[in-house]
Amino acid sequence: MAKQEDDFKKVIAHAKEYGYVFQSSEIYDGLSAVYDYAQNGVELKNNIREYWWKAMVQLHENIVGLDAAIFMHPTTWKASGHIDAFNDPLIDNKDSKKRYRADVLVEDHVARIEAKIDKEVEKAAKRFGETFDKEQFLATNARVIGYMEQAGAILKRLGKSLEKEDLADVKLLIEELEIACPVSGSRNWTDVKQFNLMFGTKLGATADTAMDLYLRPETAQGIFVNFLNVQKTGRMKIPFGIAQVGKAFRNEIVARQFIFRMREFEQMEMQFFIRPGTQKEWYEQWKETRMKWHLSMGMGPENYRFHDHEKLAHYADAAADIEFRFPFGFKELEGIHSRTDFDLGNHEKYSGKKLQYFDPDTNEHYVPYVVETSIGLDRMFLAVFSNSLQEEELDNGTSRTVLKIPPVLAPTKAAVLPLVKKDGLPEVAMKIYDELKWDYNIAYDEKDAVGRRYRRQDAAGTPLCITVDHQTLEDDTVTLRYRDSMEQIRIPVATIREKVSLEVDMKYWLKKMA
Ligand code: GAP
Repeated sequence: MAKQEDDFKKVIAHAKEYGYVFQSSEIYDGLSAVYDYAQNGVELKNNIREYWWKAMVQLHENIVGLDAAIFMHPTTWKASGHIDAFNDPLIDNKDSKKRYRADVLVEDHVARIEAKIDKEVEKAAKRFGETFDKEQFLATNARVIGYMEQAGAILKRLGKSLEKEDLADVKLLIEELEIACPVSGSRNWTDVKQFNLMFGTKLGATADTAMDLYLRPETAQGIFVNFLNVQKTGRMKIPFGIAQVGKAFRNEIVARQFIFRMREFEQMEMQFFIRPGTQKEWYEQWKETRMKWHLSMGMGPENYRFHDHEKLAHYADAAADIEFRFPFGFKELEGIHSRTDFDLGNHEKYSGKKLQYFDPDTNEHYVPYVVETSIGLDRMFLAVFSNSLQEEELDNGTSRTVLKIPPVLAPTKAAVLPLVKKDGLPEVAMKIYDELKWDYNIAYDEKDAVGRRYRRQDAAGTPLCITVDHQTLEDDTVTLRYRDSMEQIRIPVATIREKVSLEVDMKYWLKKMA
């Protein structure tokens, strides 16, 4: 646990030191759970957004985009169920006065049990060496089976109690598991209460005529209310999707995990409209497609897993998370939800307007069903950033800090470095920089010894360095250095663009999804 916390602190410190993420309003001591993206962070975020948009919109002939307003008519949130049901179960520790999400306290307890399983696996792998069969070990080791049963039973009970809104049982579970407050260490808990997560605001000049509004807690509703506008103007045929990236706001009470849980964040959501009765197939298909998108970035299949929901949100008939191994354990990164006709049906009811589709294949009118994919852009940022930060021991006995961001997402694609600041080398390097900058974000650095510059670019996440030296003046070649392997090769200046393209262009990475 201490190691996890330590690793996570390093991630946060590195994000600040290398211009990725700053605390919002830092000079005023910050604003809790609100963050700003700095010069490198904004580039990484833009690249993740573009990588998602291309995969979802550009590569699907039946998915189109949308950019709906953040403010929506307040009845939207009555129809969507957010006014009545968008709550978190909260519990306070009476000694530390700290507030927690009751379900998260239980889930963290389960994560500790799962960590014990990982430890057993690790120990056994060491003991058995090459003959170790993980699957068989998990299926037969009595201690591991015991832990798994324990974890499963706790999650099942939690799911059931939340489903039935039995908050007294959630508290009982916390007491039975002897969960203590991480701050005070005491088990002196209040009752569990529900708390609505939407931020309210007002529209209008005077207090008595102003209209109560909410900042949207998800982008999805902007898609639902525009479903028919897009379908008609785009002459879309079911099945089709509408994708959107935009800000969402939630008054998160437990917001202590950097950009994992923010009060203002960005979502990348896609609603896929389908014929009723086909939701199971589409749900499975989107689970698979989205997992392929994640795997295409090469961050390791072992870092992802599906988690099927025991407790379904008020709108879903099936739901799964794609979880990622963050520095604090496996947590939700993306949700895939089969939302039935809940949203469109309710918007019909509350607006009095028909939101139906005429299916020319079946000659029927119906309210389409929806399968949704929803991923937090900031959470994806954290997944990429935390997974990429590594301390490496080198053969020569030294170590380096390297940010192995998948090159396709890296803020700066290459750094051009003249070996020395004289003999005409800066001029040649600048010429290469000027050529490449039309296509890529490129850095130019001539300060300090070249070894130090390599280290600086490694830590900032730049996948390629192009070094101009005296030989360049003679034969028009440069050294190309790869961040991850530190391999250096000599290439003609004329081929630099092509080499960079092969490493970083989105099309090569997205093709891995096929
Ligand atoms: N439209 C469905 C929806 O909003 P959700 O599971 O509440 O579902 C979807 O959110 C995704 O949005 C999550 O998987 C997560 O990546 C991201 N997300 C949710 N709350 C967040 C928060 N407070 N901070 C950052 N990301 C968040």
